[in-house]
Amino acid sequence: MKKYISKKFINNLVFITNITQFISQYINLKKKNKYYYALCPFHTENKPSFIVNNDKQFYYCFGCNEHGNVIDFLMKYNGLDFLRSIKELALFNGYKNIPIKKNKIKYKYNINIFFKLINNVGKFYHKNLYNKNNYIAYNYLINRKLKKNIINFFKIGFASNSNDIINIFNKKKNNNLELLKVLGLITRYNNKSLKDFFKNRIIFPIKNISGQIVGFGGRSINNNFPKYINTMDNFIFSKKNNLYGLYEMYKLCKKIKYIILVEGYIDVLTLFQHGIYNVVSTLGNNINKIQINILFKNSKNIVCCYDGDQSGLNAAWNMLKLSLPYMKDGYQLKFMFLPLKEDPDSIIRKYGVLYFKKILNNAEPLSIFFFKMLMLKINCNSIEGLTNINILAIPLINKIPNKTLRFNLRNKLGKMLNIPEEILESLVSKNFIYNNKRFIKIKYSNMKLLISLLIQNPILFKVIPNKMLRIFNKSKILGIDFFINLIYNYNKNNYITTGQLIELYRNTKYEKTIKLLSIWDNMISSDLIKCVFIDIFYNLCKYELEIKIDKLILKERLEGLDNKQRILLWYFTKKLLEISK
Ligand code: UTP
Ligand code: MN
Repeated sequence: MKKYISKKFINNLVFITNITQFISQYINLKKKNKYYYALCPFHTENKPSFIVNNDKQFYYCFGCNEHGNVIDFLMKYNGLDFLRSIKELALFNGYKNIPIKKNKIKYKYNINIFFKLINNVGKFYHKNLYNKNNYIAYNYLINRKLKKNIINFFKIGFASNSNDIINIFNKKKNNNLELLKVLGLITRYNNKSLKDFFKNRIIFPIKNISGQIVGFGGRSINNNFPKYINTMDNFIFSKKNNLYGLYEMYKLCKKIKYIILVEGYIDVLTLFQHGIYNVVSTLGNNINKIQINILFKNSKNIVCCYDGDQSGLNAAWNMLKLSLPYMKDGYQLKFMFLPLKEDPDSIIRKYGVLYFKKILNNAEPLSIFFFKMLMLKINCNSIEGLTNINILAIPLINKIPNKTLRFNLRNKLGKMLNIPEEILESLVSKNFIYNNKRFIKIKYSNMKLLISLLIQNPILFKVIPNKMLRIFNKSKILGIDFFINLIYNYNKNNYITTGQLIELYRNTKYEKTIKLLSIWDNMISSDLIKCVFIDIFYNLCKYELEIKIDKLILKERLEGLDNKQRILLWYFTKKLLEISK
């Protein structure tokens, strides 16, 4: 990607863009002192913790740690890929073309040339399916019971065994060779001559929301391995940012009450053929946050359809975990499981679409599936099992923004484990995690901030009471060991400069981290540094103490505590009271 767009151009673009002006096109920014504040668009919150720093051309959210420059903002906020973001930004600044660099020779490509080319290739593949010589491909689709109207609607195509794309599309313009390579439509195998990327494959064009083809999926028709391949990621296409069928769904659905997520291209086609148009699939990857975001942006109700085997269950569990933060009021996630070794396509062929609809109507709500999986994951007959279920379930339940759902799950968990209400209450946060300081999310990025503040302002070590560090004995917080080690070294040497620090940790596993964090721009203005540092540190302490106390309380209920543990519980509670004052 960097290879093709002039870095200087991008740099300049970022430099000339007024970030506050730019971001305020999308969200409501309010000036307060030096910075601009807003409710973070990347997570749910009531108080603004999203900050834009105009001098540094940077944004940062204290709630969820999202940060970056204008380009990051565009990519994340609008789900655009790198080049689209740059194009958008260029437009904002009055540019029409993006200078593209290759081998130090400058070409001026308009991004639309790429779209035009790949869409022409798509048209060619589609036409090629109906070429008499390729009757095998057409027959293959007919054998799979796909109708012509569906084939045409999705513009399904065929890539034969010859190098059609090179031969046809390179003739017109010499420059095309470069473009075709960038688009991944031709490649060089083992340093030999250039060849078409797709061969002997049925072609599924993948379209963006405006209907432009951005990439292809290809299914082998002669059992060649792998069964399916996709266009390699390039600057107009990423497998992880797209869903198959999204554009087609919009074309046929007047109102999208819910979206069915299936696993394969053919499944989408078969469902469309049977009048079910609210369906999309991933492109063969495990679903990710970006795709889930696209789903919930387009509908409040998602039903995921999986094979009933172990891999289907795993995929569903993965989907559930990633979707929890989207469970706001009015949002719903359901799961439907097909009989073993079946997919929507095969099941409809065998038993008809009504059978599929029956399973669809019986889809399990998130709450049912959640507990079913917990039971599968853990042995509930043992005390460790019960404790583990808590450790596993509570952080997940805490991710849900919808209060009612969160309470229901908590109550059910309590009944299942036979734990009294008040104890569970202390374990599950009453408010959504981001709105509650008590349960501030201890993420690697918080630790990163804490350590970077310390490295960049060594004098801060003096505000940490050494006794307090004891509570982190056997802590699971990532990076805490390093933090404690740093404090120890500062104490020993009384003060160390960053240069000395790098020397001290040279050839240790922390060397790289120190170098990175000593120059990392953490966006904290100098008058706030001490406050923020103390704040994060005590939040960490609270978090650690609460975890330890909760564990001991649970243990006490389930099997009782010995003397040592009772003293510990008393000590932790005292410390928590001290710092909560
Ligand atoms: P399946 O193996 O279940 O294939 O993969 P399918 O959709 O039932 O395909 P048919 O019916 O045999 O034609 C499900 C999805 O996983 C991706 C594809 O997106 C496919 O649709 N996949 C599968 C790959 O990306 N690569 C593979 O080799 C196989
Ligand atoms: Mn199939």
